[in-house]
Amino acid sequence: MPLRTLALLSALALPVAAHAADRECARSPGGVIEVCAWVDGDQAWYDVHRKGAVVLAPSKLGLTFAGEPQARYTALDEAKRTTSDSTWEQPWGEQRVIRDNHTEFSFRLTGDTTLNKAVGVTFRLFDDGIGFRYDYADIPAGQAVAVTAERTQFHTVGAYQAWWYQALGQERDEYLYTQTDARRVTLAETPLTLKGDNGLYLSFHEAAMVDFPSMLLSGNGEGTLTAWLMPWPDGTLAKKTGPFTTPWRTVLIGETPADLADSRIELNLNEPSKIPDIGKWFKPGKYVGVWWEMHLDKTTWGSGMRHGATTENIKRYIDFAARYGFDGVLAEGWNLGWDGDWINNGDKFSFTRSYPDFDIAAITGYAKSRGVEFIGHNETGGGVVNYENQLDDAMKFYQRYGVRLVKTGYVRHAGDIIDREGKGEWFAGQFMVRHNLLVAETAARYHIAIDAHEPVKDTGLRRTWPNMVSREGARGQEYNAWGNPTNPPEHLTILPFTRMLGGPMDFTPGIFDLAHGKDDVTRRVQSTLATQLAEYVVLYSPIQMAADLPENYEKNLAAFQFIRDVPTDWETSRTLQSEIGDYVVVARQQRGGPDWYLGAITDENARTLQQPLTFLAPGRRYEAQIYRDGPGADYRVDPLAFETARQIVTAQDVLTLNLAPGGGAAIRFKALN
Ligand code: NOJ
Ligand code: CA
Repeated sequence: MPLRTLALLSALALPVAAHAADRECARSPGGVIEVCAWVDGDQAWYDVHRKGAVVLAPSKLGLTFAGEPQARYTALDEAKRTTSDSTWEQPWGEQRVIRDNHTEFSFRLTGDTTLNKAVGVTFRLFDDGIGFRYDYADIPAGQAVAVTAERTQFHTVGAYQAWWYQALGQERDEYLYTQTDARRVTLAETPLTLKGDNGLYLSFHEAAMVDFPSMLLSGNGEGTLTAWLMPWPDGTLAKKTGPFTTPWRTVLIGETPADLADSRIELNLNEPSKIPDIGKWFKPGKYVGVWWEMHLDKTTWGSGMRHGATTENIKRYIDFAARYGFDGVLAEGWNLGWDGDWINNGDKFSFTRSYPDFDIAAITGYAKSRGVEFIGHNETGGGVVNYENQLDDAMKFYQRYGVRLVKTGYVRHAGDIIDREGKGEWFAGQFMVRHNLLVAETAARYHIAIDAHEPVKDTGLRRTWPNMVSREGARGQEYNAWGNPTNPPEHLTILPFTRMLGGPMDFTPGIFDLAHGKDDVTRRVQSTLATQLAEYVVLYSPIQMAADLPENYEKNLAAFQFIRDVPTDWETSRTLQSEIGDYVVVARQQRGGPDWYLGAITDENARTLQQPLTFLAPGRRYEAQIYRDGPGADYRVDPLAFETARQIVTAQDVLTLNLAPGGGAAIRFKALN
């Protein structure tokens, strides 16, 4: 390596303490992960080893600012290592108690430009991955700066497969994943998940994305991924004033897909809750709503003869919710602005004025009398300025009527969110990242929780803002109504190891009328009935919809029982066995109770899985209430073949799960005395 030799030689000639190629290293608490950092050839570098084997080869660090050349880094010093082992509790979540056991490794880079003169870099090393961020603490208060490049790299070595889709497509994050050689990644969204020939699973993402653009990853054809930040319309990446820290760049590293899914690094890297009283006004739960019927085009969001969100129709859903123990009823299309081309007229939406056949006082009064809550909806059509102008009024309006959960929406092509200057913003550039937080902060003041569709991606911010309860941000069930084409079975076996690594998803599970009048399988829901039940366990969200029409549930109350029983808040969660794109089995223990629930989903292939029940409490007997594919079940020809069974089991048993093509299984393990 001539460059390195040169650097060493010149370092020898300099009378400085930390010469060019001095490496500073740190290990994770269990010694599994090692990170080293150094300066060499004008660049700042880091690398990552796991159990002595290289995971990331030398990869660059640093940011570049407008008005300055790319900084040459000349020294790394002030290296510090501290350890920290603590636990904290989530107010709601997939796991109540979370352990945060890490080594913090920080140092200072000296660069040759004004803004890069002193850059703090902080790594946190966990046994299952790392996070690191930059701290530009020396920028004087009040000074405006503009980030024009992020140099951060992730230099993978060896052969990897990746699950990804081309970023910046017009449908934002609503694409099917393809699996390719990771070297073919051009520009990918995160979480970006890789599987190596070396047996390792990696996932690249970020945590605590606050007031900074969303990071995509750009591939160089040779295994190096470089941070690519979603720009402002003027090409600037991030606009900051005074000292700032960036979001954490994260890499999960494990030996199984489960190691990724069960990692809590994302949450651990976010700040503690700013809403200590959230438990008093938000409770996880299940909801139904005037929703699927619009997607099936039985009723409309807009006004007229087929208007869906009428007082009468909503009361029908409230009755259904009350009868079967649901917590909430959503209605979309109640407010003025839906008539005509609402996607291009998002700036016309009113968030406080309703169509005449919708009476919010009557609806919320009736809901209350039946022990159900009305769930609000604010579709913006990407008219973000219009929404911000009404935001306080919108939240005030809902609060007046006792609404505590609001679904938002940003249906608009990816780069067409119009800002105050009339310019098109990316759906997750700094402008929208700011908007996302503004909505959550404003909603929190009114004791309202947010479920964002077409959202900025989730980076674990729910720890800090636990009223950000769920979001969409992937191809959800709605695509199974539209059918151009619908989601193939393997989609559900990829999501848990890609999109779901960011956080909860409002997938809207539970369609029972899988064909919904269509013959062509690519226009129907491509799963069996049992799979629709398994979704409630596999795809975590603290709010889960029973998305189908009430009459379809009433035709199959035996299957519906699982949806009625399944909790949406968990003591703990475990991914039991899986292969990305093939199958997944997840078990979760109910929070505040002894029961366990299991969801298993396969792709288009039938599969028999042996599942040890070692997760159950030792010595305890459970009644396994099994909801599974029946004889002949097949998502293509007989998706409704379905059966239930009961069996007494203990932790010592092994269950055989026979999954049909596109099939699944859902099990409640009811603890017996
Ligand atoms: C897209 C959302 O994902 C969907 O749930 C909603 O019904 C429509 N936008 C209309 O707001
Ligand atoms: Ca959507």
